[in-house]
Amino acid sequence: MNILGIGRALPQQVVTNQQLEQILDTSDEWIASRTGIRERRVMEGQHLTGLALQAAQEALADAGIKGQEIDLILVATTMGDYLFPSLACLIMEDLGASCPAMDLHAACTGFLYGLQTADAFLKSGKARHVLLVGAEAITRLANWTDRSTCVLFGDGAGAVVLGTSEREDLLGIHLNAQTDSRLLYSLSPAGNNPFTKGHDDPSQGLVMVGQDVFRFAVGQSEKDLKTVAEAAGIPMDQVDWVLLHQANRRILDTVRRRLGIDPRRMPDNIHRTGNTSAASIPLLLWELYHSGRLLPGHILALSAFGAGLTSGACLLRWGKQPPSELIPADDLFEQPVQNP
Ligand code: UT7
Repeated sequence: MNILGIGRALPQQVVTNQQLEQILDTSDEWIASRTGIRERRVMEGQHLTGLALQAAQEALADAGIKGQEIDLILVATTMGDYLFPSLACLIMEDLGASCPAMDLHAACTGFLYGLQTADAFLKSGKARHVLLVGAEAITRLANWTDRSTCVLFGDGAGAVVLGTSEREDLLGIHLNAQTDSRLLYSLSPAGNNPFTKGHDDPSQGLVMVGQDVFRFAVGQSEKDLKTVAEAAGIPMDQVDWVLLHQANRRILDTVRRRLGIDPRRMPDNIHRTGNTSAASIPLLLWELYHSGRLLPGHILALSAFGAGLTSGACLLRWGKQPPSELIPADDLFEQPVQNP
């Protein structure tokens, strides 16, 4: 499997911590020091379908591939604009594609689950090109009266076009899941069936036991990265870039310290995006690529974790030259905000 192209789309509306101070009992100081987040994008007057489409179109153009050449569309998302049809089906026509299409739900780990699924289609010969999009409007699920969760999330979409060549660039991948709906969940709509009594109340929105999820994220990310590196026979100090799901900068700092990773090899954009769930890793990868620092032959380690509980990590070799127009991104390498 090789990454042939990458795209992204972000909502126009920026919501800063100062704006949150106006509606919640919170402060920029608390949010920035506990999470690293300073602002996030929130969809307004837009649909997630439109964001996913925009990211997908950019990825196709970057790959030099036409929609008709796509053999499978996968969208990793927690919830599209519709419960059905899938977001993948909704973007297909405008891409000019005609192929199997489905959404894949593994919460914040969705992009990694998507990579593994795409790889299976490519390796089995069922597909020559796969479009994988991570697209989330997770702020729709947040409970905007719960300061401990709503300040964390943002919306966005990132997409990659995947194909094959003689050189295999997926050097290893490892996924996990375990049943625990207590720590991080959001109930689906109850509907109005008069013959079903005792619906659970979905109005509480997204619920998270923050500290337990934090512990899971740190421990699992460290374990997954070690597992995948050992299996591939590539020590972590030979990895050029480590990209973690952007959930909390203190999680990034703790994993970085435990694995002895140089901060200059671990970019983050959480201060601008917040936690965008399945879109988080492709959005960060897009920024690194467009910074011009990601070069052909570089090895990337990706690691994500989230509701399920799910987690996963992979090692990838990058094969693309930097784009012709670069976007300076010195703030991808901000200093850690505090000691854990
Ligand atoms: O993407 C899926 C994976 N998700 C994650 O990985 C998230 C993991 N968890 C976290 O990132 C952190 O646990 C949080 C950012 C959610 C919370 O940070 P924390 O350092 O664990 O804070 P806490 O929950 O222990 O709360 C500490 C205090 C509490 O006040 P008291 O009880 O000490 O008086 C909270 O009520 O901070 C209070 N607090 C806030 N204060 C101001 C919680 N949220 C806020 C807020 N503003 N927004």
